[in-house]
Amino acid sequence: MNKICFFDTKPYDRTYFDLMKEQYQIEIEYFESKLGPRTAFMAQGFDAIVAFVNDTIDKETIDILHQSGVKLIAMRCAGYNNVDFKAAYQKIHVVRVPDYSPYAVAEHAMALLLTLNRKIHKAYNRTRDFNFSLNGLTGFDLYGKTMGVIGTGKIGNIFINICKGFGLKVIAYDPFPKEDSDIQYVSLEELCRESDIISLHCPLTKDTFHMIDRDKISLMKENVYIINTSRGALINSEDLLEALKDERIGGACLDVYEEETELFYEDMSYTVIHDDILARIISMPNVIVTSHQAFLTREALHNIAETTLSNCRDFFDGKPLSNEVCYQCSKGDACPRKEKGKCF
Ligand code: NAI
Repeated sequence: MNKICFFDTKPYDRTYFDLMKEQYQIEIEYFESKLGPRTAFMAQGFDAIVAFVNDTIDKETIDILHQSGVKLIAMRCAGYNNVDFKAAYQKIHVVRVPDYSPYAVAEHAMALLLTLNRKIHKAYNRTRDFNFSLNGLTGFDLYGKTMGVIGTGKIGNIFINICKGFGLKVIAYDPFPKEDSDIQYVSLEELCRESDIISLHCPLTKDTFHMIDRDKISLMKENVYIINTSRGALINSEDLLEALKDERIGGACLDVYEEETELFYEDMSYTVIHDDILARIISMPNVIVTSHQAFLTREALHNIAETTLSNCRDFFDGKPLSNEVCYQCSKGDACPRKEKGKCF
């Protein structure tokens, strides 16, 4: 049996992998530690490793994995901004799960918006304390407002359809607009100017790093709501905090945060938080933060396990890797995968 090991594992990860590992004839060892230069040595003796969004898969980590005999990094997620592809190229193949449940993320984005706008989280706490006052709980109708969607891929597209169900007018920005769609595309600047609510659904790349900053915020309507379920570093958090303090932004729904790596997924309730920006953002009455949980549905976890194990099985059996990504294809450049089945 081929042996793989997991980094940064939580109990909810194991459930579906344990159910399916026999079927794929793969032996699994789970590590709770995150993957990084200091933990990569633990992969010695494993054919492949399975990693997640907050693992540090930089050149140093990749070199240690390579020296340890690891030939495959299987990301159990869609995003791969934490992988140094240049360092991995020609050494270790990288596969991912391109779409496990775009519905999970799109629905969570809407759940955050509804919760924050209608103050459901506050009402829940009040009524549990028999406080039936409505003071401070006023929201606004979504119907008729303009939603600006940045990134109209799988998740963005589903989110647009959800928004239409609420009677929101939707405008969108994507440098690669969908052909033959009825989406109303506008420039990023126009989207910032026209939207009452803005939701981010694009990947984190060097082009999108801090795409929402002080300059973009200055174009936005007063009291705009911003939803980020994509990657934290799409937003400059310092600029977001400044705009929240100036009361320019009406609300922020954040499932991701640019410095989340050491915090999210862990119980930090007994720890002093040294990140003053996050602590201040969380303290705002018009902010709701979830801990990178938009993906967390039963359907998504099932699909993640199935695709990750199938990616590993295909690699071990020498089959084409349809979900491989590499230095070349991640830049959009010509990559031999389409003809040869593998990126190198
Ligand atoms: P996708 O690849 O289907 O769509 C991404 C879209 O963004 C594409 O249409 C692309 O053209 C567009 N895009 C690329 N550069 C852009 C730019 N500069 N400005 C605007 N749009 C741009 O990806 P999918 O599946 O829709 O996922 C979107 C993102 O959601 C992922 O990259 C990931 O970061 C995030 N995500 C978050 C999860 C969570 O649990 N919070 C779970 C899964 C994904």
